Amino acid sequence: ADEPLVLGIETSCDETGIGIVRGHTLLADALASSVDQHARFGGVVPEVASRAHLEAIVPTMQRALDDAKVTLADIDAIAVTSGPGLAGALLVGVAAAKGYALAADKPIYGVNHLAAHVAVDTLEHGPLPEPAVAMLVSGGHSSLLLVDDLTNGVTPLGATIDDAAGEAFDKVARLLGLGFPGGPVIDRTAKEGNPRSIAFPRGLTAPKDLAAHRFDFSFSGLKTAVARWVEARERDGEPVPLADVSASFQEAVCDVLTAKAIEACRTNGVSTLVIGGGVAANSRLRVLAEERAAKHGIEVRVPRPSLCTDNGAMVAALGSRLVAAGVAPSRLDLPADSAMPL
Ligand code: KG4
Ligand code: ZN
Repeated sequence: ADEPLVLGIETSCDETGIGIVRGHTLLADALASSVDQHARFGGVVPEVASRAHLEAIVPTMQRALDDAKVTLADIDAIAVTSGPGLAGALLVGVAAAKGYALAADKPIYGVNHLAAHVAVDTLEHGPLPEPAVAMLVSGGHSSLLLVDDLTNGVTPLGATIDDAAGEAFDKVARLLGLGFPGGPVIDRTAKEGNPRSIAFPRGLTAPKDLAAHRFDFSFSGLKTAVARWVEARERDGEPVPLADVSASFQEAVCDVLTAKAIEACRTNGVSTLVIGGGVAANSRLRVLAEERAAKHGIEVRVPRPSLCTDNGAMVAALGSRLVAAGVAPSRLDLPADSAMPL
């Protein structure tokens, strides 16, 4: 018999995503983004995101079904991000999932957004070798997770104690006048710069910090250091070397992320590292992770960039694993939980 056909709905932040998978095979990944509507604010505005989801959800659903050449009746289960994320944004996806589930008499699975970021890798590289370590780096999260069994949740090893990695990219891009979102533009700008030209701080890597924060991150000190460095240049009437600042900042972030991720693998006897979240699209992060992992026989799995950022396919991918594992569906009164734990 065919493997189950699972539809996934993602609305936790500024992307309305609806994906359809069969087993590990991606059939459709329809996306509508409100990112342009937030650009002039320099960050995601929750009310604007919620309204955009409301407008986009039905047409995006239609596009996903058309792309996969299926109808709602063909779907075996509907998965939806029920947290963590922006409360009003999550609510649109959860309400839509319930509506479709009720209308078409389908089981519904509320899933964790972070676990979905890990699960999406299976669409690209097949079943995940477990245990694995996952590093999720996005605009909202920077976490190291231990994955013993994806269908049974994930265990946090560490997380940022202040700004998320993507947030640091966005804030630094803003103070450099490079625009929003910051990650892609810093990535591009850094290509022309020297990553060793400015020694920016590596947060929580000093021996005294490692004792309590071995697998935690801190990026707000780095952001402040970049701001001070730029201010000093401007005070001296010197031009700001955007490429060198971008490259040196990016190097500081990627150095800490990859060092701690590899250490987490070694400490836990794990030989697979999955990287997900929007920052996983960073070109330097990918190269440095590969380089350092290779020295310890660790395999790095990074899905293609379009699957790293928020999308519906990741939710469908996790839903597909849950259905395959025989996990019971959620109740139809499933709440949206903006602060959902792992
Ligand atoms: O996973 P995502 O789409 O949304 C959530 O935050 O959940 O991640 C968006 C974040 C933004 O902060 C963006 O600046 C960052 O990912 N990002 C990047 C790159 N592409 C996106 N950061 C660094 N380098 C990139 N190439
Ligand atoms: Zn995300």
